Amino acid sequence: MKIAPSLLAADFSRLAEEVRDIETGGADYLHLDVMDGHFVPNLSFGVPVIKALRKKTNLPFDVHLMVDYPEDYLDGLQECRAAMVSFHVEAVQHADRMIHNIRDRGIKAGAALNPGTSLSTLDEILPLLDFVLIMSVNPGFGGQKFIPYSLDKISRLKRRISSLGKDILIEVDGGVNEKNAPLLRDAGADILVAGSSVFGSPDRASAISHLKI
Ligand code: DX5
Ligand code: ZN
Repeated sequence: MKIAPSLLAADFSRLAEEVRDIETGGADYLHLDVMDGHFVPNLSFGVPVIKALRKKTNLPFDVHLMVDYPEDYLDGLQECRAAMVSFHVEAVQHADRMIHNIRDRGIKAGAALNPGTSLSTLDEILPLLDFVLIMSVNPGFGGQKFIPYSLDKISRLKRRISSLGKDILIEVDGGVNEKNAPLLRDAGADILVAGSSVFGSPDRASAISHLKI
């Protein structure tokens, strides 16, 4: 199980120190939530902040675009050497083109699904993806409660991926904590995003290791 702490829950006045803390604490990725105030009713940070953090850490960047027009961010994210980028299927008209635009830049491509969005939206594009991000809260804010029906969605997605025989990872984002982490693992999650359960804990290394169990 890989853990991707979400910077959204960090102390924004001390970003570099916060990132260093989770890097030494055993994080596998840094999850970066880009919000535009349109696709989601909140505004977070964009490419300039991500670019500044690139100089402060060697952690692979996992960028979650909760924005309209996600294609407009790709050149900047390539400059930040993003390892993974996910876009919301609800935000794009041309998902196929978007996936190719990400992969052509040498970045792993992911499709993110809101809790209320059916897995059937992935029917055609699943084989093209490197990973799928299942939202287990409605995107826009950290610290929300995990939506239990996400577990069944993850299990169904895992079965679809297995039947394709492809190595497509499942990432889960929202309300992840040490209680639901084992259930998410059993359902088929490969990467857990964790905001408040990591940054809300004074001992980040211990919080990360509890999620890995
Ligand atoms: C929610 C974001 C999440 C968020 C998770 O819109 O996509 O990445 O930071 O925060 P927690 O873990 O606190 O639910
Ligand atoms: Zn996220």
